[in-house]
Amino acid sequence: SDTTPTALRTPIVAVLGHVDHGKTSLLDTIRGSAVSEGEAGAITQHIGATAVPLETISDMAGSLVDPEDFDLPGLLFIDTPGHHSFSTLRSRGGALADIAIVVVDVNDGFQPQTVEAIEILKRTGTPFVVAANKIDTTPGWNPQEGAPIQQTYEAQSSRARSMLDENLYEIIGDLSDNGFSADLYWRVQNFQKNVGVVPSSAMTSEGIPDLLAVLMGLSQRYMKEEMQIDVTGPGAGTVLEVKEERGFGTTLDVVLYDGSIKEGETIVVGGKNDPIVTEVRALLRPRPNAEIRTEKRFERVDEVTAASGVKIAAPDLEDAMAGAPVRVVRDRPVDEVIAEVKRELAEIEVETAEEGVVVKADTLGSLEAMANALDEAEVPILRAEVGDVAPRDVAVASTANEEKHKVILAFNVSVLKNAQEELDKAGVKLFDDDVIYQLVEEYEAYVDEMQR
Ligand code: GTP
Ligand code: MG
Repeated sequence: SDTTPTALRTPIVAVLGHVDHGKTSLLDTIRGSAVSEGEAGAITQHIGATAVPLETISDMAGSLVDPEDFDLPGLLFIDTPGHHSFSTLRSRGGALADIAIVVVDVNDGFQPQTVEAIEILKRTGTPFVVAANKIDTTPGWNPQEGAPIQQTYEAQSSRARSMLDENLYEIIGDLSDNGFSADLYWRVQNFQKNVGVVPSSAMTSEGIPDLLAVLMGLSQRYMKEEMQIDVTGPGAGTVLEVKEERGFGTTLDVVLYDGSIKEGETIVVGGKNDPIVTEVRALLRPRPNAEIRTEKRFERVDEVTAASGVKIAAPDLEDAMAGAPVRVVRDRPVDEVIAEVKRELAEIEVETAEEGVVVKADTLGSLEAMANALDEAEVPILRAEVGDVAPRDVAVASTANEEKHKVILAFNVSVLKNAQEELDKAGVKLFDDDVIYQLVEEYEAYVDEMQR
C-alpha cells in the first residue's frame, strides 16, 4: 500500500475575518483562481475548501519556502464568510482548523467580525497569524508584484512606508487590547506565543511569500508537536454541499478533517429526517488548487485521508443535508455511529416560535445565518428547514395568524413546481434571493409597505 500508517495529517488552515477584507481574494491569489468574482452579491455565503500542494506553496514563496525543509504534503485552506450573519459557519470553520489566518484590511483595521474571529480562535486555542491585507491601497504605494515584504518596503517612499507602519501598529495595538501580544512577523520568535502580523496584498501578491512561509513554519511545528494523528482511523467530516453529478446521481462534497475513507465503506450522514446509512460507491477528488465548491473535474480514487476535500457518490443521498456530519463506520457498531451523528445534529438547531415566517435554505449553515439575521430584525420563525420550497411549506405558511407572517423566505433554493401553484391559492408570498441580507431587506420593505 502506498499510504504510510502514521503520515502527518494535512494541516487545516481556516481563513477568517471581517466581510470584504479579502479572504477569498487571498486564496484566489495563492491558488491562481477567481472564485471571489463569481460570488453572488460579492460575499461568501458558504464554507469552501482547497488543497494547496507543497509545490504550489514553494513556487509562490520563492526563496522563503524550501520544500526540502518540510514533510507536509501541503495545506488545506478553509474559506469562511465574513458577513455578520454567518457566525455559526465561522465558528465551525474555526473549530475545524489546526491554524488560522485572520485577514484584516489594513486601512479599515479591526472590525466586529475581526474581534469575533479572534474570540473563536482564543476559545478553540488555535494558533493564528494576521494578514494585514490591501497594503497596495496605501496612498502613494509603489507596487512590487509578488515580492516579499522586505523588498517591497525598500521600494516605497518614506511617506508611504510610515503610513503603512501607522496602520500596522494600530492592528498590533488592537491585538494587544484583545489579549494577544503581537508584532510584525519578522520580529516574532515563537509564533505560538506571539501573533505575527504579515503585511499583504491579494491584488499585487506582495507579502504572499511571507504569509506562506509563516504558515508553513507554524503548521510544521504545530503538527510535529501535537498532530501526529493517525490518518488511518475511521473518517470524520462535514458535508459542504449536496449536488447532482452526471453519472453519479446525488453526491456529497465533504471536508474530511480526520481519519480516512475508502470506496465500499459504510458511512452515516446527517439527513433531513433520520441519519442516512449508505455505502460509498465512488470517491472523487478535486484537482490540486481547485476550490471544491466550483470544481468541475474530479479524479476517482480508492481512498482519501485527512485533511481533504472529497466528493462522495453513494445511493440514498437525496435527503442528506449540507452542514451535517459524515462518519465512516468501519469496525464500530453502526448504532453507535448513528447516535453520534444525531447528537451532533441536535447541537445545530434553529429556535422557532408559535407564530412567525417559514424559512428554507440550502445548508444548515445558511439556515442558521438566516435565523441570526431574522432574530436581529425581530422577525419570529415558525419553521426553518434545509431544502427546496415544497407544497407542505406553503401549507405551513398559510397557517400563520398575522398576514405579514404568511410568507416563505427562501435562500438559495428552488421552488418545486407544484409548490409554485399552491402559493397563489393559499395567499402565501414568496421571497427568494441568493444574497442573505437582501432577502431580509426585501421582506422588511414588504412589511413596511403593508403597515403604511
Ligand atoms: P466575504 O467572504 O464576503 O467576507 O469577503 P472576503 O473577505 O472574502 O473579501 P473578497 O476577497 O471577496 O474581497 C472583497 C473586495 O476587496 C473585492 O472587491 C476584492 O477585489 C478587494 N480586495 C481583496 N484583497 C485586496 C487587496 O489586497 N487589495 C485591493 N486593492 N483590493 C482587494
Ligand atoms: Mg469571501
